Amino acid sequence: MDFLGFLLGISALFLSSILTKLLHKLWWRPIRVQRAMASQGINGPPYKFIHGSTKEIFKLKEDVMMKTNGPMKNVSHEILPIVEPHIHQWNKIYGGIYLYWYGPQALLLISDTELVKEALNDRDKTYVKPEFPGDIKKILGDGLVSTEGKKWTRQRRLAHLAFHGESLKGMIPAMVDSVHMLLKRWQNLEAKEVELFEEFTAILSEVISRTAFGSSYIEGRDIFQMLGELTIIASRNLFKLRLPGISKIWKTSDEIKSDRLEKAIRDAVLGIIDKREKKLNAGEIDDYGNDFLGKRITINDLVDECKTFYLAGQETTNSILTWTLFLLAIHKNWQEEARKEVADVFGDEDPNHEGIMKLKTVEMIINETLRLYPPVINVIRKVERQVTLGNLLLPPDIILHIPILKIHHDPRIWGDDVHLFKPERFSEGIAKATNNNAAAFLPFGLGPRSCRYSFTLSPDYIHLPTQILAMRPQHGVKVILHPL
Ligand code: HEM
Repeated sequence: MDFLGFLLGISALFLSSILTKLLHKLWWRPIRVQRAMASQGINGPPYKFIHGSTKEIFKLKEDVMMKTNGPMKNVSHEILPIVEPHIHQWNKIYGGIYLYWYGPQALLLISDTELVKEALNDRDKTYVKPEFPGDIKKILGDGLVSTEGKKWTRQRRLAHLAFHGESLKGMIPAMVDSVHMLLKRWQNLEAKEVELFEEFTAILSEVISRTAFGSSYIEGRDIFQMLGELTIIASRNLFKLRLPGISKIWKTSDEIKSDRLEKAIRDAVLGIIDKREKKLNAGEIDDYGNDFLGKRITINDLVDECKTFYLAGQETTNSILTWTLFLLAIHKNWQEEARKEVADVFGDEDPNHEGIMKLKTVEMIINETLRLYPPVINVIRKVERQVTLGNLLLPPDIILHIPILKIHHDPRIWGDDVHLFKPERFSEGIAKATNNNAAAFLPFGLGPRSCRYSFTLSPDYIHLPTQILAMRPQHGVKVILHPL
């Protein structure tokens, strides 16, 4: 009896400790953060137990989908109310800075470009990459987009090795080949309807598979297809939150499917590596190759990097290509300008790197497309420790939400013609178009985690040109990468 009492006592203690933790996470902390921000004049949709704002976001998005399922009569580029109706609505009620909730996680949306610069340019590791929710993590894994610290530095260096300027130039012929194949297919489709997003998905899988997976590009294509399926499942479920821990007991059909896909992708990458290893051992090849798969990193990292580059590289490029063609289809004058420029530069020749750099009109068109239809519409950072941003005191663990799409459609930044397609805005470059405001145009992000970087010579560089058949730097050329 005593023993039973003891057991019951322990169980009660255990249960009450779990309950206390849950209540702290799901109720006490959100309420405290909400109060702390309200005392500084920051409001937003009130926290709702467990779900936060996700149900409201889901409902607003669903309403838009119901309303807009027929062909559009007048195409408008004012797309924020369609793509992110919650941001549009809450901005009207609470202004450009407000607090909202992804489950019990607090998010602070900031559209003030001075605050955006301060947060994204941070080098003190105060604003870091947060853990991505469930299925998004399954897609990105622990790859370059999501990691922090030493692992991030190593991965960024590795990506630079695989995708530096010269190696990108070397990829152009593979890209040209794939485009030829696409154009050949399109010859049979003249005057017929072509769905561009699907077409580009196929061609980009082909290009990325050839360039990142080298000779294994057919297997690469299968991997990309599975990643595509995983992406669809992830976005379908992004705002459908479940009770914490429930997935360990009962999985939805989407969770079962995404687990299966995650495993199949891993097996497929391992299969390619295994084949290479066998060829190497049999003396059929001399090394692992120079493509992304040839870099010797751990298997887990390799799988995660492949996934990351699919999402970061393919989805974005597909998006920008499709929207550019969409805009050119309805702005025929710019279509003609672009065609004329390409014909002037290349004539009947295939595109090459030098020529591509001369395409000024095409560049203006792409920039204006990136402004109106940016492929990445939000970036987020986690506040690692209590910090002052502008004149706001932010508690730790709050997530900053930088709404790229909203900033790109802000009339206070871009003027009253903000929703019009006007590539001429960029005729004198990005700095002029944005009035030197680096946070007004962020299609590639900003700061150390942005999509581009520049480089300076390392202090360790030893200047010793030497001749080994051709002239080369004896000790290599070490550079340090800096974000642009
Ligand atoms: C139009 C095309 C693209 C757009 C609009 C785009 C956009 C972005 C943005 C906004 C970020 C910053 C994310 C953040 O701050 O949290 C980013 C980062 C990144 N992008 Fe891109 N991207 C594009 C193409 C590509 C391609 C082709 C690749 C790969 C070949 C790529 C690889 C990456 C990677 C690895 C990162 C993470 C960098 C880091 O965290 O250090 N992106 N991209």
